[in-house]
Amino acid sequence: MSAVLELSGVRAGYGTIDVLHGVDLVVHPGEVHALLGPNGAGKTTTLGVASGQITPHAGTVSLVGRDVTGAPPDALARAGVCLIPEGRGIFPNLTVLENLRMATFTGMSFRDVQARAFSTFPRLGERRKQVAGTMSGGEQQMLAMARALATDPAVLLIDELSMGLAPIIVEELYDRVRAIAASGLSILIVEQFVHEILGIADVASIMLHGHIAGHGTPAEIADTLAAAYLASDQNRTDERAH
Ligand SMILES: Nc1ncnc2c1ncn2[C@@H]1O[C@H](COP(=O)(O)OP(=O)(O)OP(=O)(O)O)[C@@H](O)[C@H]1O
Ligand SMILES: [Mg+2]
Repeated sequence: MSAVLELSGVRAGYGTIDVLHGVDLVVHPGEVHALLGPNGAGKTTTLGVASGQITPHAGTVSLVGRDVTGAPPDALARAGVCLIPEGRGIFPNLTVLENLRMATFTGMSFRDVQARAFSTFPRLGERRKQVAGTMSGGEQQMLAMARALATDPAVLLIDELSMGLAPIIVEELYDRVRAIAASGLSILIVEQFVHEILGIADVASIMLHGHIAGHGTPAEIADTLAAAYLASDQNRTDERAH
């Protein structure tokens, strides 16, 4: 099956500093693709490139077979790329309903947006009038996902869904992620909770020092993954020693 999202030989960074040194990554339709790797490996930067926030200076980004390298974030959003950034990207001072209304820019009716949001996350329905910033972290993450679904994306990019949340809430959110993928959406998800995400991921890519060091099913990449994290722990120990 053809790729929904494909990064090929992507080099990118900040200013004159390169962070990604030739990243190859393919997300297929309906798959949950975990992007794993130690701190500073370039995972968030990769999502930045995929969502058009960072323009690569080499390589290509394509979306459902179309070259979209260098397209701005709003064009990519309209084309079906939706990023849930670290820190969720919701409006804390607006209510749940107001947040959802802001997400109707791609043309889904507000009624449909609500129906989809509240059937996926019944808890949001109960809290529709609550100011988003006063909800729990898990509920805010549900709202971020509901907003993303409202844009009817082709591919959902999620950066550290589990950040700061209790394991039981993470499990509940992962259940939703799995259900959303089963409905046909493709999901590229960056995680630190490796063990948990591998329970729901179809495939995983391991990022190390700005390139993909391993790729495969959770079972296939287990060894590479252990080595990657061990190596990064070792680096940290070395840094402390100096
Ligand atoms: N805005 C920025 N300006 C300059 N350097 C940056 C910027 N953002 C990230 N970097 C650097 O780019 C490298 C990769 O960062 P990135 O955020 O992509 O890593 P990550 O894999 O998401 O890490 P983490 O797991 O800690 O979130 C790091 O060395 C980081 O310091
Ligand atoms: Mg990051």
